[in-house]
Amino acid sequence: MKRSVRTTVIAGNWKMNKTPKEAKALVKAIKAELEGKDVSKCEIVACVPYVDLATVIKEAKGSPVKVGAENVHWAESGAFTGEISAAMLKEIGVEYVIIGHSERRQYFGETDQTVNARVKAALSAGLKVILCVGELLAEREEGVTAEVVSRQVKIDLLGVTKEQMANVIIAYEPVWAIGTGKTATSDQADEVCGLIREVLGKLYTKKLAEATTIQYGGSMNAKNAEELLSKVNVDGGLIGGASLKAPDFATIIAAANK
Ligand code: PGA
Repeated sequence: MKRSVRTTVIAGNWKMNKTPKEAKALVKAIKAELEGKDVSKCEIVACVPYVDLATVIKEAKGSPVKVGAENVHWAESGAFTGEISAAMLKEIGVEYVIIGHSERRQYFGETDQTVNARVKAALSAGLKVILCVGELLAEREEGVTAEVVSRQVKIDLLGVTKEQMANVIIAYEPVWAIGTGKTATSDQADEVCGLIREVLGKLYTKKLAEATTIQYGGSMNAKNAEELLSKVNVDGGLIGGASLKAPDFATIIAAANK
């Protein structure tokens, strides 16, 4: 039902894993897993380290796997040693970029303001954005999940037009569920993805909210994917650990195609 109005997107987030050689082998393995299977009901993305991008783009060519980066700088160019611009990514054939991942917020000083600047830069350059939001464990325990996630969505999307929203996917990733093996229950995931949809409805239009892909992320794996993806507000997954294992990633893709 939800597929009639929005695209299911299964995206791998490789984080700081895989050298170019290893990346090539992993894409080959994913392609082999997908060979001959009907995966037309979802979009598949691999978000990989900067140095792996060229190799992965080449290896994924002609396959259903699209390629994304894991971050992007907000400036067009300039004195930002060590950073990568949206135009640089675009020129080498990158389609997607993850922005605002909780690891960037936690370890690299990312704020909603810098996330917002990156989102706008990426969209202006023609990249598709996977915008990550989600509450900390303490925030969930304090009962402020809705407030936290709403604030993130509102600030991170400041100045993003209705037209640009066609290129935005939101990934709801409760921080306490990332890399911990602790998955949100499918009801918890559905509830917060639904809340994000309500916020989008107020910021933009109900129709736009209904058409926006909202993923769940946080210990999604081959075993729990089908249950999570069965929920009406969960339109895919952003997958860390399990995306590094081709058979597991393929099982999640298969679950999205049921
Ligand atoms: P995980 O990571 O699947 O390993 O929990 C998800 C993410 O950080 O995007």
